[in-house]
Amino acid sequence: MQKLDAQLGPSLVRPYSLRNSPREKGRYLICVRRDDAGRGGSRTLHRGLTVGRRLRISPPRNHFPLVAAGHHVLVEGGIGITPLLSMAEALAARGASSVLHHYTSGAAEAPLLERLHTSALGERAVVHHSDQGDTVRAGLPAELQVPEPDTAVHVCGPDGFMTHVAAEATAAGRHPEQLHTERFAPAAPPSAEAGDGAKAEVPTAHGVEGGLSCEQGICGACPTPVLAGDPDHRDEVQTPDERAAGDRITLCCSRARTPELLLDL
Ligand code: FES
Repeated sequence: MQKLDAQLGPSLVRPYSLRNSPREKGRYLICVRRDDAGRGGSRTLHRGLTVGRRLRISPPRNHFPLVAAGHHVLVEGGIGITPLLSMAEALAARGASSVLHHYTSGAAEAPLLERLHTSALGERAVVHHSDQGDTVRAGLPAELQVPEPDTAVHVCGPDGFMTHVAAEATAAGRHPEQLHTERFAPAAPPSAEAGDGAKAEVPTAHGVEGGLSCEQGICGACPTPVLAGDPDHRDEVQTPDERAAGDRITLCCSRARTPELLLDL
């Protein structure tokens, strides 16, 4: 699943998942749900973006790739359909064994539901409506209730939704390494428990910038090589193995366990 960063203002950069296939040339398709209680990115886009206006964007990057497996189960809630529908279509195009489960509050609110019905997924897509009692809390999809060794599970949606799916799938015997998650918000706000709570401005010099986007540790825009020191990881994008290696740090949210970190900016 690919993302790009869009510059929405002088210091306002936000990451967006690409909805269209990497094979499609000539346009990038993103879907943005307006969130008036959010940090301002979606409001800026909905109010200020008009046809013909130019946006500065980054090249696409991919930190949530499809992993190799004999069968893929894609589970998403709400706007989580944005990245996973692209994955489902890519899997269908290559004839891979897969199923997409789309959880929504109701038919009237289902984002991209029409697109889902007109896609080539057919029986590879299952829509669940919570206003009909069909929720993940009422029961996980049958594919997740039995451990299957050669199955990859990708999950995307609101934090509570993802936490519940991951916990239930693990309790049903699914190995944690089979679960791959993509968050729109951090699982928990960073705490100051490992530090003294003091803030410090890190000056940039010689035009060096950190390349921040989401500023929440969820987009994968800012991992930076660590040359010396021990990072205290607070992000959601690095795998447990990458965290253990300690050779990259997400600048936007992580910290240092050692008095000094030497970074390759
Ligand atoms: S800016 Fe998104 S992970 Fe750091």
